[in-house]
Amino acid sequence: MSKRRAEITGWGKYVPERVLTNAELAQMVDTNDEWIVSRTGIKERRVRSESDNTTSMACAAATEALAVADLKATEIDLIVVANSSPDYLLPAPANFVQHALGATCPAFTIAAGCSGWVYALVTANQFIETGAYNNVLVIGVELISYALDYTDRSTCILFGDAAAAVVLQPTTNGAGVISFELGSDGGQAHHLWVPGGGTVKPVSQDVVDNREHYIRMNGQEVFKFAVRKLSACLSNITQAAGTTVGDLDVIIPHQANLRIIETAARTLDVPMDHFFVNLHKYGNTSAASIPLALVEAIQEGRLKSGDMTGMVAFGSGLSWAGAVVKMGEAISNPKGTPANAAMPVVN
Ligand code: UT7
Repeated sequence: MSKRRAEITGWGKYVPERVLTNAELAQMVDTNDEWIVSRTGIKERRVRSESDNTTSMACAAATEALAVADLKATEIDLIVVANSSPDYLLPAPANFVQHALGATCPAFTIAAGCSGWVYALVTANQFIETGAYNNVLVIGVELISYALDYTDRSTCILFGDAAAAVVLQPTTNGAGVISFELGSDGGQAHHLWVPGGGTVKPVSQDVVDNREHYIRMNGQEVFKFAVRKLSACLSNITQAAGTTVGDLDVIIPHQANLRIIETAARTLDVPMDHFFVNLHKYGNTSAASIPLALVEAIQEGRLKSGDMTGMVAFGSGLSWAGAVVKMGEAISNPKGTPANAAMPVVN
């Protein structure tokens, strides 16, 4: 019998209906489809419709994940939401999600930018490993379009809105989170941040006039950081798991820029077809990026029971987070089906 670990037993996703194409962005800022595709690999992204908010998107993904795991909301022991684009500054999204789902458990939010969901996965895994909880819902949701400056071509082309969720349950059959690495380099925080609207520069007419309530990014610095961390973190977590990057069945990198993934693949000497990529459809969905790719990899049959995956995220902080996760029996034989998902009413 192996150590008690957290197995993925349910999964679900939600993307807004509204597609924002590169051609549409070219009407808004001085850019074009050729530049965006050649520099990033992104062809389109989703942005919120009128009816979408952070809570509703999180609940849609979570409801599907619960249906696949065949769990009721009242059976969840803990909800962890990874998010940096909350509906309200206070309280954080997890409480709204808990209430809207009809769950009665504790809930908290992790704000670690694009690394948030892997931080949340690793945190949730600790509660399961210790035996404190059995059924944990881990959601990544981002309505990041609200923080984008659609006059800044260096940021607005990159990001999109989405949500994805998994259910974690204990197993002793060898599946689960095998190794992880979490990291922070706050000395580089100003390379990707929202300078206004917090306590240092509270919302004011000046902040709004200077557009400081929107995301600012030093793309080249983040790019260099991302390439370094993606390769190094993948090497570290696979070594800790007693395997190699080349032996992973599927690598799920943060979906920020195809060139970042290609550079890491070259550095690690691993073929690109080991990497799961869906950023051409969604852009960078921040904390939803890794779980959205994970859910699509499962739904497309790229991942099956017994497979080993390495996930690595990087972003605002600057932060990074990686985990090696072994898929259990539920990946190929889930207890439930997404068709049973019953949407809660979000108040
Ligand atoms: O979760 C982490 C989130 N962030 C990231 O992962 C971002 C990492 N960085 C990147 O992905 C890339 O740095 C970008 C895609 C943001 C930019 O690509 P780049 O190849 O590093 O371009 P650059 O910043 O060196 O800019 C090259 C040129 C500049 O023009 P000049 O100065 O050479 O005339 C930019 O003004 O491209 C220009 N440019 C654009 N042109 C057309 C910047 N954005 C655009 C645009 N369309 N959207």
